[in-house]
Amino acid sequence: MVQVEQRAASAEDLLQALISTRARTLALVAELGDEQLSRVVDPLLSPLIWDLGHIARFEQRWLLEDGAEGQDDTYDPFAHTRAQRSGLSLPTRDECIERMSAVRELVIGRFEQNDPAVIELVIQHEQQHNETMLQLLRQLEGYRPPTALLEQAALSALEPRKGLRAAAARAYRPGARREDWIAFPAGEYRIGAGLGESFAHDNEFGAHSHPIAAFEIAVQPVTAGQYADWIAAGGYEDRTAWSVLGWSWLAAQGQSFSGAPDGWQLEGDTWMHSGFGPLRPVDLSAPVCHINWFEADAFARAHDARLPTEFEWEVGASYDPRVGAAGTARSHPWGDTEWSPGTANLDQLAFGTLPVGSLDQGYGPVDMLGQVWEWTASEFAPYPGFAPFAYVDYSAPFFNAGYRVLRGGSWATRARSVSNHFRNWDRPQRRQLFSGLRLARDIVGFGPA
Ligand SMILES: [Fe+2]
Repeated sequence: MVQVEQRAASAEDLLQALISTRARTLALVAELGDEQLSRVVDPLLSPLIWDLGHIARFEQRWLLEDGAEGQDDTYDPFAHTRAQRSGLSLPTRDECIERMSAVRELVIGRFEQNDPAVIELVIQHEQQHNETMLQLLRQLEGYRPPTALLEQAALSALEPRKGLRAAAARAYRPGARREDWIAFPAGEYRIGAGLGESFAHDNEFGAHSHPIAAFEIAVQPVTAGQYADWIAAGGYEDRTAWSVLGWSWLAAQGQSFSGAPDGWQLEGDTWMHSGFGPLRPVDLSAPVCHINWFEADAFARAHDARLPTEFEWEVGASYDPRVGAAGTARSHPWGDTEWSPGTANLDQLAFGTLPVGSLDQGYGPVDMLGQVWEWTASEFAPYPGFAPFAYVDYSAPFFNAGYRVLRGGSWATRARSVSNHFRNWDRPQRRQLFSGLRLARDIVGFGPA
C-alpha cells in the first residue's frame, strides 16, 4: 500500500465520524423492509442491501485485513456490474445489519492500530455510498424521508431558512436574464490538493500550477426555470446545439423519453416531479437536477457558452472578492473551515435542492458546493505525479476512459466528503446523479492582473 502523508483528523474525530456516518446509513433505510432493500429499481443502481453489505466488506478489508483481497467477491464492484448484483445471493436485512455491527465492533477494538488516512477513506466511502443509496431511494415508490432525519433537519435548517428569505427576492421569473459572471484573467492557477493540507483522495493530489486562459464563470448554476425555457424553445429538437455523441444518445432514447430532466413530467403546462414525496411542481428557482453531460453540454452551446473545465471550476470555487480574481486556493468557497448548516446545501437533510442562492454568503459564485453536482468539460485524467492510494483501483481504472468530471457535491453529499478540489466522475449518459451545470465562456484579451 502506498502511504500518503496527510493531515489526519484526531482519533476522537475519526471515531465520532465513523459512528455518525453509520447512524446516517442506517437512518436512511430505517423504515424499509427486506423486499424494498432487495428491489431492483434501476439497472444502473445496486439493490440497497448490496450497498449495505459492500460498506461492511470495504471496512473489513481496509481496517481489519490490511487491504487483503477476500475470498468472497460478492461485494467486489469490479466482479459484478450493478445490473448483475440483484442476482447474487444477498443477505436479509437482519443478517446484513448484524454483519455491519460485528465488523464495526472489531474495528473499534483495534482502532488505534489503523492508519488515520485509511480510516478517513473508509468513512468517506460509506458516505459516498449514502449518496448512491439516495439515488435509488429517489426512485423507490412511496419512500419518504425517515422521521428521525426530518427531525434532525428541522434543527439544522434554522440557518438555511434565514437565507431562504433572501432567495425569495431573486426567485426565478420566466424570461428573466441572468447576466452575472465573474471574470478571471489569463494566468497560472493552483489546482489540486497539497500534501499535508487535509485529507484528499489520490486523484486530487499533486497540487500544481496550471495555465488557464481568460474566462468567466456564471455566478449561479443554471436553474430549472431556465432549463424549462430551453425545453419550451425546442432545445431537445435543435440538432445544432448537440454534440454528435449527444445527438446519438438522444436519438437512442425512444418514444417514451420525455425530453426533460430525469423524473420530470408535464401536467398541463406545469413540470412536475416526484421523489422523496408526492408528485409536485418542479421548483423553477432551484438548480436544474438529473441531467446528463450531453444535456448540460447542449444547453451551454445553445446559450453561447460552454461547460467550465474542472480547473476553471476550482478557480471559481476558490474566488475571494477580498483578494481579487487572482485568488487563493481554499478548501471550501467560504474559506478553510469546515461546513456548517447555512454555508451550503450539503449533508442530505434538505432532501432536495433549494432556490439558487439561498445560502449566498457573498464570496463569489453561489452554490459552488452543494445543491447539484456540476458537470465540467473535463475528462477524468490523472494529475502530474499521480500515485494510487489506498489501492490501485480507486481512481486509476477510470482515467482517460470517457468519464467526465463533476465538481461541487449535491444536497445528497455528506459535507465531510467534498471540497473545492474533490473530483467526482461518471459516464456522460448518466442521469440518476444529482447533477446540473454552470455556464462558462472565453474572454478575449483579458491578461494577467
Ligand atoms: Fe464502494
